[in-house]
Amino acid sequence: MGKRLSPDEKLINDYLEEIDLKPSPDHRRFWEDLYLKYGNIVGNRLIEIFSLRSEEANNQDIYEVKNETLALSLDFAKYSADLYRRYFEWFIKRTKRSYRLILDIGCDNGIVTCFLAILFPDAEIMGIDIGENGIKCARQLAKRLNLTNITFYKIDWLQIKEHFPNCQFDLINSLRSFHEISDFPDEKYWSLNDLAGSDRNQENQEAYRLVSELLAEEESDFFACERLTTAGEVVSWIERLKQTGLYVKWEECDRLAFHEVGDVQEMPILVFHKIDSGIDTVQGVSEMYVRNEMIDTERKKEYLGESAEYVFTQLSDKEFIQGWQINFADESGKLRIEFWKQKNQLIFYEYSNLGDRELKMSPLDRLDASVKELSKKISCYASTGNDVLKYDRITSGDESDRNQ
Ligand SMILES: C[S@@+](CC[C@H](N)C(=O)[O-])C[C@H]1O[C@@H](n2cnc3c(N)ncnc32)[C@H](O)[C@@H]1O
Repeated sequence: MGKRLSPDEKLINDYLEEIDLKPSPDHRRFWEDLYLKYGNIVGNRLIEIFSLRSEEANNQDIYEVKNETLALSLDFAKYSADLYRRYFEWFIKRTKRSYRLILDIGCDNGIVTCFLAILFPDAEIMGIDIGENGIKCARQLAKRLNLTNITFYKIDWLQIKEHFPNCQFDLINSLRSFHEISDFPDEKYWSLNDLAGSDRNQENQEAYRLVSELLAEEESDFFACERLTTAGEVVSWIERLKQTGLYVKWEECDRLAFHEVGDVQEMPILVFHKIDSGIDTVQGVSEMYVRNEMIDTERKKEYLGESAEYVFTQLSDKEFIQGWQINFADESGKLRIEFWKQKNQLIFYEYSNLGDRELKMSPLDRLDASVKELSKKISCYASTGNDVLKYDRITSGDESDRNQ
C-alpha cells in the first residue's frame, strides 16, 4: 500500500499532475521528447540558443522560443520539474498562510505564480515578467486552472514603480530571476570574512532597493531562491540586500537539493524581512551550510567545502607552520596549501580563492611525511607552468596577502 499523503503533499501532487510536470530522467530523453512532439524546427532552435546561452545568446531569446505555446512551455519546464517540486515542498513546510498581496518577480510561464494562487486562495497574486510570450503562457495557464485571484503583467522589474507606485506586498517571491535582472557577485575570496562589510557591493543596488521599497514594513517576507553556487556568493548577495534594509530570517533558510534532467544541483533558499536580528552574515551563512553536517573534530578528521572552512575558523590557538600558493597559469584562480599545528594535531588546509576547501587532521608527527607527500604535488604544479610561492610565516596576519 502506498504512503498516505498529507493534504499539502496532495496539493503539490495534484498541481504537478494537472500541468503534467514530470521530471525528465536525463538530457537525451528530454530533448528526444521535445523533438518528437514539436519537430526539428523548434528542437533545433532551442538547442542552438541553449548551447549559445553562456556565450553570446541573450537569455531572453530562449524564453521567447520555449514560450511560443503553453504546451511547449510546460514540456520545456520538465527540465526543472524536480526543482519546482522541491521548492513547493519547502514553501508549504515553511510558510505562514496569511499573505494578502503577493508578487512573483520574473514569473515566466506562471508555474510558480499559479501554485501560489492555489496555495493562497484568499490572497491576490501578481506575476510580472519582461517576456512577452511568458506572460501570454502564464495567462493561459491561469485560465486553464480557473484561477481568479491572479493577474500577470509584462513589466521590466526595474520599471515596476511606474506601474505600481503605491503597492505594498506581504510576500515577494523570486525563483531564479534575480540572476537575470541584476549582476551577480562573482568574487574571488580566500575566506568568507573577506566578503563581509558594509562598504562593499554598493553598485547596481536599484533592483534590490525596489524589493525593499515594495515590501510591506511588517509581517512581510521576500523569498529568494537563486543560482548562488558558493557560500561566498551567498554572503555577498545577502550583504547587498542588507544595505537596502532587508535582513535574513536565518531559521527559515535552507539549501534546496534537486536534479535537473538527472544533474544534481543545489540552490539556497533565503528568506528576508525588515527586522535586523543582529546576526553577522558570515556566521549565519556558515551555520546554514554546516547545519546538517557532522562537525565533531574528535571523531571526524576530514572535511570538505564550507564545513572545512567552518572547522578551520573554529580551531582556536593554531600556529602556522608552512604554506604554498599556486597561481594558476591560465589565471583561473589561486590555490593555497598550508600546514598548521593545533595542540598535538597537524592541520592540512587546502583552499582556493574560488571557494574550494579541504581540511584534514592527523597526528603532529606526520608533518615530515606529509610535507614529503605534498612536494610531489607541488612540483607537478610548478612543472606545468604555474607560479608556486612558498611561505614560512604569515607576516601581516592579513588572510588576503600572503603572496605579497
Ligand atoms: C530563469 S527564469 C525563472 C522563471 C520562473 N521564476 C521560474 O523559476 O519558473 C528568469 C525569468 O526572469 C525574467 N526576467 C529577466 N529580466 C527581467 C526583468 N528585468 N524584469 C522582469 N523579468 C525579468 C525572464 O524573462 C525569465 O522569465
